[in-house]
Amino acid sequence: MSQRTFSIIKPDAVRKGYTGAILAEIEKAGFKIVAIKKISISKAQAEGFYHVHSARPFFGSLTDFMSSGAIFPMVLEKDNAIADLRRLMGATNPANAEEGTIRKKFAGSIEENAIHGSDAEDTASFEIGYFFAGYELA
Ligand code: PPS
Repeated sequence: MSQRTFSIIKPDAVRKGYTGAILAEIEKAGFKIVAIKKISISKAQAEGFYHVHSARPFFGSLTDFMSSGAIFPMVLEKDNAIADLRRLMGATNPANAEEGTIRKKFAGSIEENAIHGSDAEDTASFEIGYFFAGYELA
């Protein structure tokens, strides 16, 4: 059944000029881009987005990084979108990512790992609503 997920092309990938190549991988894998925009977020906005990770040791560094430059938040749609995007992204740490995955090709480190993808339906709903208004998702 068709499902929506939320993704972000992270500041490292935008800075390195990988945005177009990553979008091409996503479209080639069969995802429809429902909504996308280029924005920069504040540290406080990054903290709100990653609130579930606030107790993790890397929270400060991750939110500094995510507010360090332009990002492309987007809403993607296909059958089994949440699990399929996670598979296409590869492991969180690019050193462990499989050949052919986005992180294997474009990520530099466990923090500067190129792309975010929602891990479950409830997080996808929260994350879509954090960055997009209903009228942007027609
Ligand atoms: S995941 O994707 O939720 O299963 O991975 P998890 O390990 O729980 O990581 C949650 C997010 O934190 C990022 N992360 C890190 N950032 C900086 N330093 C370290 N060491 C680190 N480990 C994990 C990871 O990329 C996840 O961010 P998102 O945006 O969800 O990919």
